[in-house]
Amino acid sequence: MPMSDVSSPALDNSAALATVRADIGDCTRCPLHTLGRKQIVFGVGNPKAELMFVGEAPGADEDVQGVPFVGQAGQLLTKIIEAIGLSRDDVYIANVIKCRPPGNRNPEPIEVATCEPFLLQQIDIINPKVIVALGTFAAQALLKSTVPISKLRGQVYDFRGTVKLIPTFHPAYLLRNRNNTDLKRDVWEDMKKARAILSVPTD
Ligand code: URA
Repeated sequence: MPMSDVSSPALDNSAALATVRADIGDCTRCPLHTLGRKQIVFGVGNPKAELMFVGEAPGADEDVQGVPFVGQAGQLLTKIIEAIGLSRDDVYIANVIKCRPPGNRNPEPIEVATCEPFLLQQIDIINPKVIVALGTFAAQALLKSTVPISKLRGQVYDFRGTVKLIPTFHPAYLLRNRNNTDLKRDVWEDMKKARAILSVPTD
């Protein structure tokens, strides 16, 4: 059989993600393109990941490197991923907002509304088993909720029928409250739930 006839879901997914990225282009759909962002931070990782992490928006480091979660919060996220026996290459990481809000301010509703369709396309293509929503913005955007993350977390939600959604605290929030062992324990409990759904070996 010629190679072109061999179907590869990973390649298909990569190509589909590339199409979404091309559609975003050098986006001018919301005000963020006039507010100092250097580049669009699309997403990174395994295009057929079973586990996907969704954060809020790029920070300064991500804006420079064009890759989500590469700053301090990203380093903690990497440790969290490794704690359940996976690596960053196993998972897919994206944000609700693809451009850095100035001064890391909270995203505005118009920015979320404009950018979220691209995240939903990423999710549809990757079709993960589990999404871990990192922090208030990701959890509220995906669950269409205004409930605070402290009340949303602790449960597993059905998302669009096939995906389990697990809200947890944002790694930046853990870093800002690094002496709070309760928060760390809560995130660990949430990650164990994700691991159980994925059946990652525990040793
Ligand atoms: N915080 C986020 O929510 N996303 C990033 O990519 C980095 C920090």
